[in-house]
Amino acid sequence: MSRKLRVAIVGAGQVAETVHASYYLSREDLELVAVVDSHAERASEFAAKLGIPHAFSDAGEMYRQCQPDIVSVCTPNRFHHQHVMQALEHGCHVMCEKPPAMTPEQAAEMRDAARKAGKVLAYDFHHRFASDTQLLREQVVAGTLGEIYVTNAKALRRCGVPGWGVFTNKALQGGGPLIDIGIHMLDAAMYVLGFPAVRRVTAHSFQKLGTRKHSGQFGEWDPKTFTVEDALFATLEFQNGGILRLETSFALNIAQQSVMNVEFCGDKAGATLFPAHIYTDEDGQLVTLSQCEVADDNRHFKSMQAFVDHVLGAPVSIADAEQGYLIQQLVAAIYLAAELGTSIDL
Ligand SMILES: NC(=O)c1ccc[n+]([C@@H]2O[C@H](COP(=O)([O-])OP(=O)(O)OC[C@H]3O[C@@H](n4cnc5c(N)ncnc54)[C@H](O)[C@@H]3O)[C@@H](O)[C@H]2O)c1
Repeated sequence: MSRKLRVAIVGAGQVAETVHASYYLSREDLELVAVVDSHAERASEFAAKLGIPHAFSDAGEMYRQCQPDIVSVCTPNRFHHQHVMQALEHGCHVMCEKPPAMTPEQAAEMRDAARKAGKVLAYDFHHRFASDTQLLREQVVAGTLGEIYVTNAKALRRCGVPGWGVFTNKALQGGGPLIDIGIHMLDAAMYVLGFPAVRRVTAHSFQKLGTRKHSGQFGEWDPKTFTVEDALFATLEFQNGGILRLETSFALNIAQQSVMNVEFCGDKAGATLFPAHIYTDEDGQLVTLSQCEVADDNRHFKSMQAFVDHVLGAPVSIADAEQGYLIQQLVAAIYLAAELGTSIDL
């Protein structure tokens, strides 16, 4: 049997534990050998809790001592670029949390470095790995929906500003709900549509509640240091004539606690993503063509599995470095359009 691949995690926080470490520890062919966190005690506690042999506060020291084959980057967004570049320089395959980086220039540099190193760089856009998303992509390719001319993507929370981490800090995150949760539904929508070329972007962003309130569904935050948008609404115009409308918010006065979904409207049929549901009409009657009872909630596991299997040479697709760059480019164009109050041509 070939040797186990050695894995290290950089950034010992919430997603590192619940997604990355828990997946790596479930595989017999991997060995989770090290964890790095800029807060030394967080790295030590994480290692002790999960039985990881080595903990570091300095990534360079970890590479010297542990020589991993695979690295997960789970730091705040601002540090994704530097840690991904460092991992690639050390010849590692990398799974980086979303968003890829802070800017499209950084994401392009990361993509180019992965190509040059001949290593896998994947991003954890896990919603595209749900069976619902896979089913809709297959049906779009098969032509079931016809020409999709309107797509509505929503990542909305009522009173749901994250109370942990640095999600309200623009300097460390690059933005608010768009770069944190809107990006997930943007990726899922673009994946189902087959990444059509975007011609123009318009957007409006708001900061109405995050600076006035301090607590909600996900704990407390400091309104004085809330420097990101709390709601953003964008329209993407595709070269093919269709549009995608994206609504995203950490705190919006809507009836539901949370909405994470995409609706595709084609000229033959329409579809809702979670749970997957395809519908049309025949002779005036409303007809369901396909319907899943519940949405597949095993997306994070499948995203990690696709990455590791891809590294091992299996013919499975990942959210790759080029698609990560395209999504980062759209996020930047949306923020710029909102800031300037004009449409941005791509
Ligand atoms: N795919 C998803 O659904 C999903 C879910 C949650 C978080 N995320 C992403 O994961 C990342 C982390 O989020 P989280 O919720 O785990 O945050 P967190 O605050 O719980 O964890 C981040 C950890 O990184 C450490 N850190 C900060 N700067 C560092 C540096 N320069 N080097 C090494 N370690 C550093 C912090 O001390 C902290 O322990 C973010 O990019 C976020 O967007 C993705």
